[in-house]
Amino acid sequence: MSSHGAPIPMTSSACGPLTGEARVPGDKSISHRSLILGALSVGETRISGLLEGQDVLDTAKAMRAFGATVTDHGGGEWSVYGVGVGGFAEPDGVIDCGNSGTGVRLIMGAMATSPISATFTGDASLNGRPMARVTDPLALFGAQSHGRQGGRLPMTLVGAADPVPVTYTVPVPSAQVKSAVLLAGLNAPGQTVVIEAEATRDHTERMLAGFGAEISVEDTDEGRVITLTGQPELKPQKIDVPRDPSSAAFPVCAALIVPGSDVLVPGIGLNPTRAGLFTTLREMGADLTYENERVEGGEPVADLRARFSPDLTGIEVPPARAASMIDEYPVLSVVASFARGDTVMRGVKELRVKESDRIDAMASGLRANGVAVEDGPDWWIVTGQGHGNVAGGATCASFLDHRIAMSFLVLGMATQKRVKVDDAGPIATSFPIFEPLMAQLGARIQREDG
Ligand code: S3P
Repeated sequence: MSSHGAPIPMTSSACGPLTGEARVPGDKSISHRSLILGALSVGETRISGLLEGQDVLDTAKAMRAFGATVTDHGGGEWSVYGVGVGGFAEPDGVIDCGNSGTGVRLIMGAMATSPISATFTGDASLNGRPMARVTDPLALFGAQSHGRQGGRLPMTLVGAADPVPVTYTVPVPSAQVKSAVLLAGLNAPGQTVVIEAEATRDHTERMLAGFGAEISVEDTDEGRVITLTGQPELKPQKIDVPRDPSSAAFPVCAALIVPGSDVLVPGIGLNPTRAGLFTTLREMGADLTYENERVEGGEPVADLRARFSPDLTGIEVPPARAASMIDEYPVLSVVASFARGDTVMRGVKELRVKESDRIDAMASGLRANGVAVEDGPDWWIVTGQGHGNVAGGATCASFLDHRIAMSFLVLGMATQKRVKVDDAGPIATSFPIFEPLMAQLGARIQREDG
């Protein structure tokens, strides 16, 4: 089932060269944060290039429920009139974050140190995901949570009336957890300190600094130590959201495996905490170049050019790189299927608690399509079949997971027989223009009757 409505089955078949420009939507992580930080500042934040995927639209709706004025001006232009740190109102109804772990976890952090309560829910995927990873640190500030067994949604969070600042070492590599703690720290007096052993995406830190918070980051033997001074007055910003490297991954990977392809993907955010996939692909022998490298709005940006790469070789992906490409392992496993030799991915336990268990979802779909995959609790190995040798022909389940659906549609672009996805509906959460964008490049993706 898609998150909102009936399943949308799609098939993808081998196609001629993919060519042209792929203008992918705005960055999902930065879009969520723009709305939330805009809502926590005093005055009007202007946002251009906001991702208008369902995940972000659900966060926009939530910010309205907490009292901010959020306006869609059309064409990706949005404004948020914020209520200031500590200014959130208690929502009248339940906050439905749909499919979005980022949305719910960051919003829980943002409200945890205000004297209000809110009840959160989501779709079947989100309601199955672990929330204790955020409610545990939020309890240290004084917030209380009441959820279902195993710390699952639906859940009510009662914000702390007299919050205390917290020093917290994040036990799993998670930017969502780090960000939830930092956002909670905004309305606690004194200094909140977050320590992460492995660097995860740092958009929250960069954006908090941009909004005028006092925040410092120090690299130490324990890891990155982030210190935030609470109760600042955040100043509204003008934000240009860069295009999402996690969405760029799909046209880039498709171009690498479809013979004759040459695709330009302009204006992609290449923050080093996000760009691990592209480094990995280049190590595998991908013809992938960065053109017109520049800095926009404090984030490194480049135009990516991907061409068909007939001599891809499997590699061992360094586990230390996992956080910087955590959302890209599904589509990497597709590219790995067309390489020669094994692609070994270790240190990726977090893949098991994303929108789906992404190791299970990809391993079963790839096997059904003729690719050998081995897997364990925190690792998996894909044995490449070489170009032209991947059979295809099977139907894959997307498990309410946008990235699983898109990965299998990319697979079908270069398999011998077409690949079917049982429900491509979830793609709308992060990449609503995926289907027309890929079709314009030359892909053959078709909707099917159930
Ligand atoms: C995100 C962090 C990552 C990532 C997700 C977006 C964010 O999740 O998978 O798509 O915007 O902070 P984790 O924090 O669970 O690793």
